[in-house]
Amino acid sequence: MAEEKKAQIGVTGLAVMGANLARNLARHGHTVALHNRSVEKTDALLAEHGDEGDFIRTETLQELVDSLEKPRRILIMVKAGAPVDAVIDQLVPLLDADDIIIDGGNSHFPDTIRRESALAEKGLHFVGVGVSGGEEGALNGPSIMPGGSAKSYESLGPLLEDISAKADDGTPCCAWIGTDGAGHFVKMVHNGIEYADMQVIGEAYELLRDVAGLEPAEQSKTFADWNQTELSSYLIEITAEVLKQVDAKTGKPLVDVVVDAAGMKGTGTWTVMSALEQGSAVTAIAESVFARALSSTERETRLEAQETLAAGVRENDTVGDEAFIEDVRRALYCSKLVAYAQGLDMLRTASEEHGWDLKLDVIASLWRAGCIIRAELLQDIMAAYKDGASPRNLLFAPAFRDVIEEYLPSWRRVVVEATERGIPAPVFSSSLAYYDGLRRPRLNAALTQGLRDYFGAHTYGRIDAEGTFHTLWSGDRSEVQTS
Ligand code: 6PG
Repeated sequence: MAEEKKAQIGVTGLAVMGANLARNLARHGHTVALHNRSVEKTDALLAEHGDEGDFIRTETLQELVDSLEKPRRILIMVKAGAPVDAVIDQLVPLLDADDIIIDGGNSHFPDTIRRESALAEKGLHFVGVGVSGGEEGALNGPSIMPGGSAKSYESLGPLLEDISAKADDGTPCCAWIGTDGAGHFVKMVHNGIEYADMQVIGEAYELLRDVAGLEPAEQSKTFADWNQTELSSYLIEITAEVLKQVDAKTGKPLVDVVVDAAGMKGTGTWTVMSALEQGSAVTAIAESVFARALSSTERETRLEAQETLAAGVRENDTVGDEAFIEDVRRALYCSKLVAYAQGLDMLRTASEEHGWDLKLDVIASLWRAGCIIRAELLQDIMAAYKDGASPRNLLFAPAFRDVIEEYLPSWRRVVVEATERGIPAPVFSSSLAYYDGLRRPRLNAALTQGLRDYFGAHTYGRIDAEGTFHTLWSGDRSEVQTS
């Protein structure tokens, strides 16, 4: 009797991301075993797309496990959190040593670290994989950020690289990121940057609307033009698309009938939480998360604020000013750069803390295509970190330092204009404050230290001596060295 055909990989959880990754794998010639808690989804996928490649239909996890070649590779595509643990718990008794469980959802990296360690004790591999690119990317080539053991990547890597997006030079947008939760951590920071990237676009849109007086359709053209400049990126490209969309029901620009309250699923918040824990100043990312939170403040509170809070703004004299539009473009570029610089700096710090040895040039490389933050500037970011080069901050890389120097007056003008016109531009302004904070020779933190020492004897350092010092504020105000 002929050997029953085995699958190279199994996918459990066939909502749109799982289904599209399964189809992508099958389209690349891999035999894919399919499983879903309710078999209807499996059958619907097979009915609609069964002819795209070799699929094996399974109804139970046992059937899924039995249908796979060894070592088995099982991709879990269920909602992050408890559902992932539930599937793992059901799978583990069915597996053999060296089998690989892959979690392709947006799981929180501490969960991934915990799961990896628990499964390693049982001789199993657990690989947390960051997948970016949305539904379309999952089907046609996402950017893939796998963590887990280096050994698991030997077996899994070729498959993932095969279905990943490819950069213009043909490099797969998939590479082993580092052990345990490294892949999910990098995906989390990717999402933090994604939040900031969208927020700076939003700030530019609001300024173009309320200062330059551009209608959405005109703005669509502006963003399309900007996409031909160094701002060229997926998010700018789709901004032009969204802004030109007309609402079928009202005939108005769609953006004008969408409720101005931004949702979020949590990855941006996690990025900021981790940044706070590790002491990384990701101000642009944090302001983006807070901007979404503010937009979602109860409607009644916003209505009351509109009625009761003074605006105190200057009259608009900037309508139709081409120079201002170019200023906004430049401010957008600088702020976007700061967001990427902060995200990468956070990765550098986390790499040391977790012993991940993250390669920032590789990470920049695999963000070049497939993912949501893909952008032309990633090519220069990659170059800035090439061959182990490690600028202390991305903003110091000559390619960026020089452009910022040129664009700085525009950036400052836009922040002033926004402030005077009462238009919130939290990432434009906080990025500029970060930039100035980095470069200023004396920060006001010296006074903060003095205050902390005054009320709490928290001590301070001196610019002219080693050690820590305390002033006897309630005594004779002399200084003592405490260490
Ligand atoms: C991606 C996206 C994707 C998803 C985010 C956004 O890289 O493909 O980041 O993972 O769109 O979860 O989530 P929010 O709902 O928090 O904006």
